[in-house]
Amino acid sequence: MEGPFVVLTGAGISAESGVPTFRGPDGLWRSFRPEDLATPEAFARDPALVWEWYDWRRQRIAACRPNPAHRVLAEMEATLPDFTLITQNVDGLHQAAGSQHILELHGNIWRVRCTRCGRVSEDRRVPLPEIPPRCQCGGLLRPDVVWFGEPLPAAVLEAAWEAAARCRWMLVIGTSALVQPAASLPVLAHRNGARLVEVNISDTPLTHLAHEVLRGPAAQVLPTWWASRRPQQ
Ligand code: OAD
Repeated sequence: MEGPFVVLTGAGISAESGVPTFRGPDGLWRSFRPEDLATPEAFARDPALVWEWYDWRRQRIAACRPNPAHRVLAEMEATLPDFTLITQNVDGLHQAAGSQHILELHGNIWRVRCTRCGRVSEDRRVPLPEIPPRCQCGGLLRPDVVWFGEPLPAAVLEAAWEAAARCRWMLVIGTSALVQPAASLPVLAHRNGARLVEVNISDTPLTHLAHEVLRGPAAQVLPTWWASRRPQQ
């Protein structure tokens, strides 16, 4: 376990906490169309509809707790000297498990951003008392998440590229690796000589690059893997 260690997580790590994934048999994108709910155009057209969906997701996530896979990553951060956690998830379960430094590529569902004054604030109320919610300035609030067609937060993405480019280990957990640019991070790490470990219940476009594949639910296979690798005191 020498050298910089990077972890990239996706919706699959939160599946066993009860948070729905996007793709797969019960994925959100089976029942909902992203272009109706997760684009700037959808929000401009019908902010109340978009907010109703986010309010529903917030209520579902509020009932969920971190699972052993989230907790292992918090322990890794506390144990390994050079560790970076990158997530595509907006659910906040890494924070709830105790991870301190998290590069959130797609934002966070517990933050809101004013479309008029730009103010970002935390809002954990479920359900929201008013839909669509408004800022103190009177402007319309939006979820502080990245929608399809929007750029990722530049500083977060840059830090993620930098970490991926120099790591010796990259653990990729519960992502279909279909959404860019996140899906390119493990490819970059691999190209630069990192050891790639994939944790997933099924194959992904990254599987053929992985040096090690841990096949199974993250909450089960990750604690076992970490127990066998954890540096001994
Ligand atoms: P997906 O829903 O696309 O993929 C979830 C992945 O997790 C799949 O590869 C599953 O096989 C795997 N999986 C499911 N349950 C698992 C478990 N218990 N343990 C391990 N793996 C499991 O989710 P993401 O890859 O995160 O973007 O999706 C990427 C982005 O697409 C999301 O961040 C979101 C979405 O549209 C935005 O909202 C911008």
